Amino acid sequence: MSFAAFLQQYPTYTTTQKLDTLRASDYSRLDATGQIYLDYTGGGLYADSQVRRHQEILLKGVFGNPHSSNPTSMAATRLVEGAREHVLRFFNADPAEYEVIFTPNASGALKIVGEAYPFAPGGHYLLTFDNHNSVNGIREFAHARGAAVTYVPLALPDLRIIETQLDGFLDRARPGHNNLFAYPAQSNFSSVKHPLEWIAKAQQQGWDVLLDAAAFAPTNQLDLTRYKPDFVPLSFYKIFGYPTGLGALLAKRTALHKLHKPWFAGGTITVASVQGDKYYLAEGHAAFEDGTVDYLNIPAVEIGLQHMESIGMEIISERVRCLTGWLIEHLTELTHSTGVKLVRLYGPASTEARGGAVTANFFDKNGRPIDHRSIEEQANKVNISLRTGCFCNPGAGEVALGISRVELDVCFNGPGHEERLTIDDFRLCIDGKSSGAVRISVGMVSNFQDIETFLNFCRGLLQ
Ligand SMILES: Cc1ncc(COP(=O)(O)O)c(C=O)c1O
Repeated sequence: MSFAAFLQQYPTYTTTQKLDTLRASDYSRLDATGQIYLDYTGGGLYADSQVRRHQEILLKGVFGNPHSSNPTSMAATRLVEGAREHVLRFFNADPAEYEVIFTPNASGALKIVGEAYPFAPGGHYLLTFDNHNSVNGIREFAHARGAAVTYVPLALPDLRIIETQLDGFLDRARPGHNNLFAYPAQSNFSSVKHPLEWIAKAQQQGWDVLLDAAAFAPTNQLDLTRYKPDFVPLSFYKIFGYPTGLGALLAKRTALHKLHKPWFAGGTITVASVQGDKYYLAEGHAAFEDGTVDYLNIPAVEIGLQHMESIGMEIISERVRCLTGWLIEHLTELTHSTGVKLVRLYGPASTEARGGAVTANFFDKNGRPIDHRSIEEQANKVNISLRTGCFCNPGAGEVALGISRVELDVCFNGPGHEERLTIDDFRLCIDGKSSGAVRISVGMVSNFQDIETFLNFCRGLLQ
């Protein structure tokens, strides 16, 4: 297929040309090494200039542990607090309303909410089927403390939530109890973007809202002045690739007051006493940042945010939309000589309210599923990086792959499976069905050639 045909169908792609220039200058190692990177939902890629600018800071300055008040400590504090303020600006959050808590990643942010949210009998944890496991995992805190746990189902084929059904679930918040509703702004399985309007709606009905922005934030502007979830977890490496090991929990100050942190650590208290057996938690973010923050890497977060701002989120979103549309259209039209389609797509087939991850399974000419691991192995041989499995999103996977509750019960209650179940045991259990899928995700510096190379790889699978 020609680039001209693509441009004719997606003329706005030309408005994103600046990303081609950037790819040539700041991400040249992609083409120099011949890598076709299609796992942006797994992790973003960093620009050379981000690393250089970070290195310059480290090479020129002297930085000490920010828990002191000596000159090198204060130098580190200035950088950390500068980055913190920048995170708020990036998400258009009012500092009077939101706090930024630095965490190791999105999962670390979610753990803070899970372990400190006041779940109790009468309370409720409501979550959509397509949450990441780090959001699913919060249900264990809810179960342990006697709160009800309910999943909102997904509807095939798009893997979206039926709005009227959601309304029925949102009606179930019990006044006077603590109710938490969690959903991804963008699913990391189907790439469905759920409406951000649910946030205010749920809050009006008595829910605190946890909006998982980990897969959404890399290619969409999250505006916390317009939409005001109580808790927003995210990972910075997913947005701009570098540094890894840092994420944040953006939390409304009012919501933070609700949390009961179950312990204290260095840096989280104003006073703690051994003989008095007493401690006083610090205010705001300090109460939740256990020990010393990653003060040498946090400056790289600010550099990453500046890098994103210098490009503009609208340009990134538009590029991803164009490439995803083209990819879906040409992937889903591939047909074997027998008339059997090469792929079955899981998620929306249009670019409307969806992001840049395309999840599918591949089939041979007789309609038999091709193991996703075999697709990955073949892709690896030609330097195409894609993701396979269920991407830590088992709920969406179960719905997409048609794995029923009964089948899962049989599997989990099978002999020897009470305590331990390997992924191979699981595959055997759901014999004949796919246990996962292939995810191709497009990102900030993807280009037409990446997509064409992948489509040509797929054409080579036709029989
Ligand atoms: C939607 C979503 N939430 C949460 C996470 C967890 O992020 P991390 O592994 O960086 O903690 C991911 C990672 O893939 C994700 O895609």
